Amino acid sequence: MSEKLNLPIRPRRNRKNDAVRGLARETVLTASDLIYPLFIHEADSNDPIESMPGCHRWSLEGLVKEVGEAYEAGVRAVVFFPKIEESLKSSHGEECYNPGGLVPRAITAVKAAYPDVVVITDIALDPYNSDGHDGIVEVSGTGDIRILNDETVEVLCQQALCHADAGADIVSPSDMMDGRVGAIRGALDQAGHEEVSILSYTAKYASAYYGPFRGALDSAPKAGDKKTYQMDPANIREALREADLDVAEGADMIMVKPAGPYLDVIRVLRDAVDVPMAAYQVSGEYLMIKSAAKDGWIDEEKVAMESLLGIKRAGADMILTYFAKDVAKQLS
Ligand code: PBG
Repeated sequence: MSEKLNLPIRPRRNRKNDAVRGLARETVLTASDLIYPLFIHEADSNDPIESMPGCHRWSLEGLVKEVGEAYEAGVRAVVFFPKIEESLKSSHGEECYNPGGLVPRAITAVKAAYPDVVVITDIALDPYNSDGHDGIVEVSGTGDIRILNDETVEVLCQQALCHADAGADIVSPSDMMDGRVGAIRGALDQAGHEEVSILSYTAKYASAYYGPFRGALDSAPKAGDKKTYQMDPANIREALREADLDVAEGADMIMVKPAGPYLDVIRVLRDAVDVPMAAYQVSGEYLMIKSAAKDGWIDEEKVAMESLLGIKRAGADMILTYFAKDVAKQLS
C-alpha cells in the first residue's frame, strides 16, 4: 500500500470526465472556421487527382454539387484553383482576366446556386503562366530568370477586378509580389468594388509541401524556383514585416502558409496584428495524413481533426483545408 501524495493541486481534476473537459476546453473548432479549396477544370468529368487522394478536378456542374454538399455540412467558404489548358497559357497570363474564363464562370455558377457561400479566388499567375511562375518571367541573355514585380502587379489587379466583376466576395493574392495588396485595393475601389475583401497570403513560404498541388494543376515552374518571391522557411521576423505591410496596404485578413510546420509563425502574427488570420493546411500536409491513414498507421479522421485543432490553437481564426467537408461532417 503506497502512501497518498500530499498534492493539493491536481490538474487531472479538470480532465475527470467529458463534461468537465468540455468546460475546461480552450479551443473549439467549428465548421464555420473552414475554407474548402476546390480544383476545377474545363472538362465535363470529375477526375480524381492522383497526387491528392480524395480530391477531384471538378467540372462546373460537379463543383456546384460539391459546394452544396460541403454547405450542407456547414462549410460556408470555398476557394477555387483552376487547371488551365496549355493552349491558353502565355508569358503574361492574359487568360487570368478573361471574363469568360473558367474561374469567372465558376464564381457565377456557385453564387447562383448558393448566394450566401463566401467565394474566395486565388490571385496569382501560375495556372495561366506558360513559365509556371506566379509572376511574369524575364529571361536574360545568359538564361537567368527574373520575376518582374511591378509588371506582374498590374496583371494581378486586372485578375482581381475580373473576379470581383464575376461576384467574388474575397480575392486572395498568393503571388507574394511586393505592393500587390495596396494596388489591388486601389483598383477594386476605383471600380466600385469597395465591398470586396482582400485575404492576403502574407507569409507564404517557399515550401516543398506544395508538391502534390503542383501535380494537381500541372503548375510547377518550368525553370528556377519560387525563392525570389516566396519566403525563406528559416525566417519569422520577415513574416512580421510582411504582415505590417499587408495591413498598412489594406489587407482585411492575412494568411500563413503552410500551416502545420509553421505554427510558431501563426502565433507570432496572431499576437502582433489585429486582423483575422487564416492558415493554409497545404497539399503536402494533407497527403501525409492521407497516405499514413491509407496504410492503416494512423486514424485519418482523428489526425485530421487534431491537426486542424492545433492550427487553430496556434492562433488561426480560419483554416483552408482539403479536409473541410469531411471534418465539417464529423463536427455536425
Ligand atoms: C500558387 C499556389 C500554390 C498553392 C496555392 N496557390 C502553389 C505554389 O505556390 O506553387 C499551394 C497549395 C497547396 O499546396 O495546397 N499561387
